[in-house]
Formats: sequence, structure tokens, C-alpha cells
Amino acid sequence: MKICAFSDVQRQKKPLSLSHNIFLIMETIDWGSLGFGYVKTDYNVRSYFRDGKWGDLEVHTEETITLPMAATCLHYGQEAFEGLKAFRGKDGKIRLFRPEENAKRMKATADYVCMQCPDEDFYLAAVKKVVELNAKYVPPYGTGASLYIRPLLIGTGAQVGVHPSSEYLFMIFVTPVGPYYKDGFKPIDVIVDRLHDRAAPRGTGHIKVGGNYAASMESSAWGHDHGYNIVLYLDAKEKKYIDECGAANFFAVRDNTYITPNSHSILPSITNKSLQVIAADLGMKVEARPVAFDEMVTFEEAGACGTAAVITPINKIVDIDHETVYTIAKNGQPGPNTVRLYQQLVGIQNGDLPDTHDWNLIIG
Ligand SMILES: Cc1ncc(COP(=O)(O)O)c(C=O)c1O
Repeated sequence: MKICAFSDVQRQKKPLSLSHNIFLIMETIDWGSLGFGYVKTDYNVRSYFRDGKWGDLEVHTEETITLPMAATCLHYGQEAFEGLKAFRGKDGKIRLFRPEENAKRMKATADYVCMQCPDEDFYLAAVKKVVELNAKYVPPYGTGASLYIRPLLIGTGAQVGVHPSSEYLFMIFVTPVGPYYKDGFKPIDVIVDRLHDRAAPRGTGHIKVGGNYAASMESSAWGHDHGYNIVLYLDAKEKKYIDECGAANFFAVRDNTYITPNSHSILPSITNKSLQVIAADLGMKVEARPVAFDEMVTFEEAGACGTAAVITPINKIVDIDHETVYTIAKNGQPGPNTVRLYQQLVGIQNGDLPDTHDWNLIIG
């Protein structure tokens, strides 16, 4: 892979030394109070697909892009994105958690919406490059904060007909994000949304296109209006099976078994995939299958899982339309298996526990 340094990079004033820069950043960012917002960092990387091939990886400092008004991403949602994190360990090294899984998922998304996608090697080199360039924004060990990495792929060709673009832009930006649990690892209440569907049974729920998130916004607002931060979706066809929990997968524990729904309308979560392996490592049985909502009464523990929080333990599931409340957590505390699963995964991500499955890509 060739990397082009763009003129805007070269025009910059002579940069301070890296150690000086890290010192300045450490002084100015209060890592502990960072939220899940956007903080501009120094560099992003991009590659254009034109004339049937991907161009070299470009390094940019500006955070804007120029697009034709008729670009397919703007009109027809030809757009795919990913989200992963980099963590700084006690040893000072930066660890990326399973980035190749995000590369594969982006390819699956791109294929479904008929987009070109860079191959896995190019994708991984781009992720490494953008993290290395912004290394000073990877929060220090022990702060609970991390560097969020957002790969993005969009159709850029100008056209008005509904058909795949012949031009694409792949880009990655990064932004430091704060610790998810500022007030401790506490179970939260979740509301069942029977008014909205996140994804159609044979639609795009299994891939990461922006349209799925636009389709969930009214539902999230409805949940917030009722005082809940997360909504639980049931399957769109029968409202019989558990689907997703906000922008996260659902799992439950019963009789030493890790149970998680499996369906075409659920995004295959990399966190969930990893938790299933960890559950087996910890001596639990693992079941990935359609999970009937009726089983809720039998669950001893439950949680939502995803890159943002790893695990959000669930206290109660509130089904207002059926006037039923399922209390899952005992005394409002996360269950023992939920805690073990969480600690094991976070320990591997931070480099505190042995990475026995070779999940981390280490930089520096
Ligand atoms: C709809 C949805 N489900 C589940 C997840 C969790 O996936 P992951 O663990 O790969 O972050 C996400 C986050 O990407 C999501 O947006």
C-alpha cells in the first residue's frame, strides 16, 4: 500500500515532537469526562475508487469532504460504516480489538448494497495508519477512555437513476471517547417498543447501513420520552422473538447457559461473538438461536452488548403495551456471569489478561 501525504499535511507548521505533543494532549484533554462525542483529531485517511480500481491511501488533515449533489450515498443510501476501538495498555502499547472482523462486516454490508469495498489487507493497513498518526489521542491506560475508530464507505458517483455508483470513497476518522460507565457498572431499565420495527425480516438488519439507524431514531426518541435510554425490539413479523436491544445485541443467562438471539434482522455483533467464546471458556453452554420473548420470565441475567459499552446489564424489561414488567437483576446489581464476561473481555482488550484467542492487533 502506498501512502500519499497530501499538500495540506505538508503545508502545516513544523510539528512539535511526538513526546511534546502527547504531553500537551495529556494536559488539555480530561479523559475521564469525555463523552461519546466527536473531538477533531489531527489526521484522517481516504481512498477513492475510480475507473474500476482503488487509489492509494491518502492522509488528510481537513475534516470535510467534497461530494457531487447527485452522489448515490445522499439519495439512495449507498453507505456502509463500522465502529471499533483502540485501547492503551499498561505497557503503553495500543491494542485494536478484532479489526479484521469489522473489515469482513463492512465487506458484507458493501456487497448487500452493491458497493465496491477495499480488501481486508488494505482496510487493516488503513486502520493501523490512522491510529498510528493519531496515537496521541489514544487515552492513557486506566482512564476507561479509548479511541473510537469510524471507517466509512460511500457511493460518490453523480447520478439520478437508482443503480450502484461507479465511484466510491472509503475513509476513516478517529475520535477519543470517554469511559462508558462513569457511575459504575449498573443495570438499566429497558422498554419494549411494539410500535416501531428496526429492520424488516428479510431487509438490512444484518448489515451496517446508515438507513437502519435513521429508521431507529423515532423509536429511540419514543423510548426517551418514556424515560428509557434503550428500547428492546421484537421480530418485525410476529412480535414473538427478541431482536435487538437499541444499537446492541441482546443476551441472557439461564442455568449456566449464555443465550442470544439469532436472526437475519440482527446485526452480527463482534462483541457478542467474542462473549460467546468467553462464555464457553468460562465453562458455560452457549445457545445462539431464535429466543422467544416469553422466555424473559426465566432469565437470571440479561444484558445488551456492543463495542460502545461492551455490556450494559439489564435491570428490568418494561412492556408497557402488555402492562408487564420483568425484573431480571437481583437487587439492582449485575449478575455474577455478566460481571465475569465483562471483566474478561475488557481485560483482554486492555492487555491485562492473556489474549488467548489472538484477538488484539498490537501497534507500537
Ligand atoms: C444495531 C447494532 N447491533 C449490535 C451492535 C454491536 O456490534 P459490535 O459488537 O460489533 O459493536 C451494533 C454496533 O455496532 C449495532 O449498531
